[in-house]
Amino acid sequence: AHVRRPMVAGNWKMNGSKALVSAMTQSLSEVSLDNVDVVICPPMPLLACVEPNKFYLGAQNVSQYDAGAYTGESSTSILSELNVRYVIVGHSERRELFAEDDQVVVQKVQAVLNAGLTPIVCFGESLKVREEGNYLEFLYAQVDAVLNGIGAKIKDCVLAYEPIWAIGTGNTASPEQAQQVHAKVREHIAQEYTDIAAGLTILYGGSVNAANAAELFSQQDVDGGLVGGASLKTDDFIAICQAAN
Ligand code: G3P
Repeated sequence: AHVRRPMVAGNWKMNGSKALVSAMTQSLSEVSLDNVDVVICPPMPLLACVEPNKFYLGAQNVSQYDAGAYTGESSTSILSELNVRYVIVGHSERRELFAEDDQVVVQKVQAVLNAGLTPIVCFGESLKVREEGNYLEFLYAQVDAVLNGIGAKIKDCVLAYEPIWAIGTGNTASPEQAQQVHAKVREHIAQEYTDIAAGLTILYGGSVNAANAAELFSQQDVDGGLVGGASLKTDDFIAICQAAN
């Protein structure tokens, strides 16, 4: 039995098409997934052609600023108008490729919360950090940056542990590795926010697929998945959702 309601979010990254939006919407309408929250996060322009039905809509990014002269950016109010409910913040690709540091991550989380949307806050260590052995401290620091910025509002966030070495590599964290980090991070948050920590949804992301999802999601502190590559195939994505259902 799940303590927390499971969630599976598909992060399409810069992939997909209008055709995939239609196919995914159609496929999801044909299955019953009453015990899992399903979130689809397509690229920004495609958000406008999704009619969420039996799933929620998520964005992969957002501006930390309100309306104004910010060429190329999208605000929380524009996303809200498109029925977006979730926003991925702090993905390692944003941190690494677009130079988003902890400060920007906090600003974005605050903007998302202020708009009444739910941030899916990502954290995760590189292979180098893992091999050096001090990865829990590294992860606590990433989480603490957010906690210091928003305090008890962490209860309105979803967290996602995404070890960088597992993203797009096929090198999934083992169920034990995922469980260890999820439990430790939950414990860490519980030091200050005991009740909130127990109810926090913590997703795992990094080479989740139809074959490994069930075992990952069966771990006590793994409340679902944030899925990249496998979220682009309707059958695989639905199988992963069913594994969490
Ligand atoms: O946000 C999801 C992600 O980074 C994992 O990607 O392709 O390894 O499932 P992938």
